[in-house]
Amino acid sequence: GSRVPFYGQHQAGITTPPQNFICFAAFDVTASGSKALQKLFKTWTAAAAAMAEGKQVGEESSNLNLPPVDTGESVGLNPSQLTITFGAGPSLFDDRFGLASKRPPSFKDLPAFNGEQLEPQWCGGDIGVQVCADDMQVAFHAVRNLARIARGTAVLRWVQEGFQRTAQADPTGGTPRNLLGFKDGTANPAVSSAQDMNKIVWAQSGDGASWMAGGSYMAVRRIRMRIEIWDRSSLKDQEDTFGRYRASGAPLGSKNEFDPVDLNQKDEKGNLMIPADSHVALARGDGSIQMLRRSYSYSGGIDSKTGQLDAGLLFISYQRDLFKQFVSLQQKLSKSDRLNEYILHVGSAAFACFPGASKGGYIGDTLF
Ligand code: HEM
Repeated sequence: GSRVPFYGQHQAGITTPPQNFICFAAFDVTASGSKALQKLFKTWTAAAAAMAEGKQVGEESSNLNLPPVDTGESVGLNPSQLTITFGAGPSLFDDRFGLASKRPPSFKDLPAFNGEQLEPQWCGGDIGVQVCADDMQVAFHAVRNLARIARGTAVLRWVQEGFQRTAQADPTGGTPRNLLGFKDGTANPAVSSAQDMNKIVWAQSGDGASWMAGGSYMAVRRIRMRIEIWDRSSLKDQEDTFGRYRASGAPLGSKNEFDPVDLNQKDEKGNLMIPADSHVALARGDGSIQMLRRSYSYSGGIDSKTGQLDAGLLFISYQRDLFKQFVSLQQKLSKSDRLNEYILHVGSAAFACFPGASKGGYIGDTLF
């Protein structure tokens, strides 16, 4: 069907196959006290569960003198696989809400990385909400109504929409291509393996914050692509940058997209087929660091300073441990990845995404 259940052991939107569109929203809480926060999470839970069913938020009043409860733009639309995934930013674990002692030991602001040029308007947030759907209007409606419900308690800090090829445009369901033209997501771990997801994605009760068991840590990076430079580089350069062929997505030296990646394979001159500083060689390494990537392309009009397209990747990854996985890998990539010539990290945030809520409970209830 067209719905993804909202309630469950884990939040929807993490191992859910990526929908066509994303509308990502970061909020700052303006109220203080844990009661206000709990009330917000309870109201958001009811609204999110209703919207995931394709329903409006709240009962409509027949009073013509009141504004309608729901904003109305999704009336008559099906839920379009809507998922709404909530997470707490490091800044939520402070004295405002009495949550300082609940901060998971390895969950803090991301450190500075080599080469990044972060712009404050794309960074941080007390709460992150990843809204995905197969219809942009449905996704936007969800963000708008969550923001409306939060009035007086929380305000939007930043919002970024994103897209990938739609399922309609590719009925075969092949790996989507990013805006550099390469298939992106090939080597993701299999979400069908509960064992792998428990190892790579879901926080476990013994990990240091028992309230996070069944949740996951999300890294978000708004990464601009230097499209004009990329478009002028040769196909050989492009393929050496990733370590894969552009057309097939196969690892250099192999034939098919899902062929095993052999980082030691050499050509007849003795050179590595997959350059050691290519994105795939570095990101794969010895295979000990894995994560679940769930990124979308974004386009944000034109950069007013340069007149060039502001477009790139809204990189999102989920992991069991933010520092052991995302941070260690990004530290390595930011120093030596060939891809760095063509990209620029301009936005950054991290969120501890709660375990799933059960009916009668609410999102984040294990925290209080
Ligand atoms: C693999 C693109 C940033 C982690 C790949 C692949 C592409 C790609 C085309 C190969 C196909 C695949 O397996 O999905 C990009 C682009 C980026 C970017 C365009 C920035 C605009 C990042 C960042 C990280 C990352 C910031 C994490 C810190 C990975 C990992 C793999 C991968 C773990 C799989 C490597 C393997 O096991 O073979 N990326 N990526 N990527 N990327 Fe990225």
